[in-house]
Amino acid sequence: MAAAKIAPSMLSSDFSNLATEAQRMLDCGADWLHMDIMCSHFVPNLTIGAPVIESLRKHTKAYLDCHLMVTNPLDYVEPFGKAGASGFTFHIEAARENWNELIQKIKAKGMKPGVSLKPGTPIEEVYPLVEGENHVDLVLVMTVEPGFGGQKFMPEMMDKVRKLRQKYPSLDIEVDGGLGPSTIDAAASAGANCIVAGSSVFGAPEPAQVISLMRNRVEGVKAAW
Ligand code: DX5
Ligand code: ZN
Repeated sequence: MAAAKIAPSMLSSDFSNLATEAQRMLDCGADWLHMDIMCSHFVPNLTIGAPVIESLRKHTKAYLDCHLMVTNPLDYVEPFGKAGASGFTFHIEAARENWNELIQKIKAKGMKPGVSLKPGTPIEEVYPLVEGENHVDLVLVMTVEPGFGGQKFMPEMMDKVRKLRQKYPSLDIEVDGGLGPSTIDAAASAGANCIVAGSSVFGAPEPAQVISLMRNRVEGVKAAW
């Protein structure tokens, strides 16, 4: 059964002290570090690229869960592989024509492939990517419109998570956007095991408490999935 993984979103960290912030999150019990890679053609924002991943990699052995909100993910496979990314999650909306090639290349570079979908994209679109020999290891269900931290969780996205969990009992299912102590139960009971959280973790007086609360809620309900 899929284990709980709590992934603080470094988008909410102090980017000028990234290595220190990463270590602080690991000390607080984070399983993964979620890295939001955005280009302004795919979302109305611009964040970090492979050079930042490469710099951070020199300071940590942590699993770097890279979420690529970009229009041309194929162009980034090689640089992110070299930079030391662990997971490479692309958006289906940007890869409808070439997801098969993309998955192969991500694996060839030693990264774990994942696919994400925006709130308006039906869950059925990712089924072919989860099935078959050349499949993704993770599906990231966006629970806000991608682009910014600090937005409100969309509970209606839990239907997608429930459908996925029913079909794929051991798949890593990640949720991203508006997750925190007040929304974790909805996500966990629907079947999400990988939890991305930016503002609720970085904004908390005790991030370790928020991380352990979320892990406990996932572990507590997963027998009922
Ligand atoms: C949004 C990003 C998220 C974001 C989540 O496009 O993918 O990872 O940082 O932030 P919160 O948890 O504040 O909604
Ligand atoms: Zn993200």
